[in-house]
Amino acid sequence: MLEVCSLTKCYATIPAVDNVSFAIRPGEVLGYLGPNGSGKSTTVKIITGLMEPTRGHVLFNGKDIQEDLAAYKHLVGYVPEEANLYPFLSGLQYLALVGRLRGMSDSVIAKRAETMLQVFAMHPHRHSAIAAYSKGMRQRILLIAALIHNPQIIIFDEPLSGLDVTSALIFRHLVSALQREGKIIFYCSHVLEVVEKVCSHVIILQRGKQVAQGSVEDLKRFETAFQPNDGHLTPSVLLPSLEAAFSHLVQEVDAEEAAREIVSAVGMA
Ligand SMILES: Nc1ncnc2c1ncn2[C@@H]1O[C@H](COP(=O)(O)OP(=O)(O)O)[C@@H](O)[C@H]1O
Ligand SMILES: [Mg+2]
Repeated sequence: MLEVCSLTKCYATIPAVDNVSFAIRPGEVLGYLGPNGSGKSTTVKIITGLMEPTRGHVLFNGKDIQEDLAAYKHLVGYVPEEANLYPFLSGLQYLALVGRLRGMSDSVIAKRAETMLQVFAMHPHRHSAIAAYSKGMRQRILLIAALIHNPQIIIFDEPLSGLDVTSALIFRHLVSALQREGKIIFYCSHVLEVVEKVCSHVIILQRGKQVAQGSVEDLKRFETAFQPNDGHLTPSVLLPSLEAAFSHLVQEVDAEEAAREIVSAVGMA
């Protein structure tokens, strides 16, 4: 089990993540949501062991990950938000590099890479330099690289950015399949309709603070956490989607009004 206990991370004196706690058991997918700048990627960097928290702990099976960070990192597969890949390597060379760094044999790397490159329609491009890849192609290589060593804990930070419809669909089914394998999955995203389908529970973050948590159904149900903006909701209302629930909780602007203002601003002489 992965446990995050009272996690706080300050940049200078400003908390980017403020007293966040949660647990993910094997076979669970935690959806971690929030507007831009709410502290999602900061949390990700701490639970992948890339950054130390200012306060609080991350425990894996009851042990602080800082005690043996190298061993912990072997258990983790991570798809970062930014596709920073070596542009001069080919996709296949990059996967071989990652596999070797993970201590895998060349034959196992070759077998797994071959299958996953086929599934993600990257096989014809495997020898091309990453510099020539589109954003979606880089994202697919990152996904393969994160999974190639069969990690126990899988952390996705906005994994769908740049993915085409087919790859996104494969990704969605992949998350469910990994869940059935008993993986611990942390899924950070703002694509709410996917989160709604794949996550066993959800945390909503706003300015670093955990403002709601529960199952998707819990969050859609009108609860004390949801203060109606328009006065029309009654406590029995079931919000139609996670997106509606999210808007009620953290949306700080009226999206329709903002769009109208932009159109009228660009129309000005
Ligand atoms: N390295 C950094 N130094 C200073 N401030 C940072 C740094 N990284 C992120 N922040 C700030 O922390 C807050 C949370 O950022 P981040 O975790 O990237 O949010 P999210 O992933 O939800 O968009 C933002 O206000 C951001 O500007
Ligand atoms: Mg982010």
